[in-house]
Amino acid sequence: MADQPLLNTYGRLPIVFEHGRGMWLYDTEGQRYLDTFTGIAVCGLGHSHPVVSKAICQQAERLTHCSNLFHCKLQNELAQRLCDRTGMDGVFFANSGAEVNETAIKLARQYGHQRGIQSPAIIVMENAFHGRTLATLTATGNRKVQAGFEPLVSGFVRAPFNDIEAVEAIARSNPNVVAVLVEPIQGEGGLEIASDDYMKGLRRICDEQQWLLMMDEVQTGNGRTGTYLCSEQYGIEPDVVTTAKGFANGYPIGACMARGAAADVFKPGSHGSTFGGNPLGCAAALAVLDTLDQENLVARARELGERLLSRFNEHLWGADYIRDIRGRGLMIGIELNAPCPELVLLAKMQGLLLNITREQVIRLLPPLTMTDEEADYLADQIIRIIKLYAADDRDRPRN
Ligand SMILES: Cc1ncc(COP(=O)(O)O)c(C=O)c1O
Repeated sequence: MADQPLLNTYGRLPIVFEHGRGMWLYDTEGQRYLDTFTGIAVCGLGHSHPVVSKAICQQAERLTHCSNLFHCKLQNELAQRLCDRTGMDGVFFANSGAEVNETAIKLARQYGHQRGIQSPAIIVMENAFHGRTLATLTATGNRKVQAGFEPLVSGFVRAPFNDIEAVEAIARSNPNVVAVLVEPIQGEGGLEIASDDYMKGLRRICDEQQWLLMMDEVQTGNGRTGTYLCSEQYGIEPDVVTTAKGFANGYPIGACMARGAAADVFKPGSHGSTFGGNPLGCAAALAVLDTLDQENLVARARELGERLLSRFNEHLWGADYIRDIRGRGLMIGIELNAPCPELVLLAKMQGLLLNITREQVIRLLPPLTMTDEEADYLADQIIRIIKLYAADDRDRPRN
C-alpha cells in the first residue's frame, strides 16, 4: 500500500493491519504478527482489550463530546482517580504526549512569570524525547527531530542525562531557570534509566531553587515499569507529571498532573483544548484504571519484567554481540554492540514486530496482560531472532 495521499512523515513497513488481540496483530492477508512493543507502549492491556472497547462503545451511545465550557462527570471522576492514585492535586487533560508536555512547559513558564522571572528557562536533557510540537521538539535532545524546523523555541537549557553536577552548575549560573523536565527512563533515547541518586538529587536541587520538578511519564506511566508511575520507584514526588500512551490503551488522551504550588498556576483562560478530556477518552481511561486494579496488573508488570529479564540474561548475556540488557517492569532494552537496522526486517519475515531505538537498542514494551506462557514464548522468539541475526551478521560481507 502506497503512502499517498498521506504526507510523507513515516518510513512504514509494508504491512497493513486489520485487527489485533492481546499481543497479536493480524494483517489483511491473514498473517499474524507478535507485537513486542504494543504501538510503542500504547496498548498496555493488549490490542483491543474487551473492557476498554466496551467502555468506548457504551459511552459513544450516551455522549461523545462535551465542551469544556461545561462540566463533564467522567472528567472529574477520572481526575479524582488519578489524584488519589498519584498524590497529585489537579489534572489537565489533552490528546497526546506532546500536548501534555506542552501544557507542562506552559505551566512552568507561567510559574516563572508569577515569580517575577521575565524570561523563564527549563532544564532538559540530552537524548530526551518529549514530542513533535515546536516547544516539545526543542525540549527533545535529538538534532534529527529538530533539523529543518529552526528557529527553535527559546527558554531551554540542555544538560547531560544522569549528571547531577551539570544541573548544579546550571543552578549556580542561570537565574532564569524555573523547572527541570526529565524522563525517568529515556525510551526513545535508548532505554537509559535515571539513577536513584540522580532523581533524588534533582528533587533536592528543585526544592533548594524553588524550581518545578516535571516528570515526563508519557511512556513510563500507567503501570508499565512495575509501579503506576515510574517516579514512585525513586521515593520522590514530582511537582508536575505528564502521561499519555497507555493511559487509555489506544484512545488518544493524555494527562498533565500538578501538585502543590504547581496546581495553582493556571487560571481560567490560561490553557485549553477542545477535545481534551472528552467523555470517550475518559471512559476508556477509567476502564484502563479499573482493569489495572482488578487484575493487579501493575504488580504483574514487575513480575513479568523480572521473568523476561532473567530469560534474556540466561540466554543472551555474555554473547559478543550483546552490550547490555536492562529494564524496569515491562520496559526493557537489549542493547547490541553495533547498529542493527536489518534486524527489524528479519524479525518481520519471522512474524515478529520489533522496535529499535538509538540504532542498536531493541526496545520491548509488551502488554501487561501476558500470561507466563505468552511471556516465555515472546522471550524465546526474541532470543531466537537475535541469535539468527547475529549468525547472519557474521556472514555479512563488510566494505
Ligand atoms: C517520553 C515521551 N514523551 C512524549 C512523547 C510524545 O507523545 P505523542 O507522540 O503522543 O505526542 C513520547 C512519544 O514517544 C514519549 O516517549
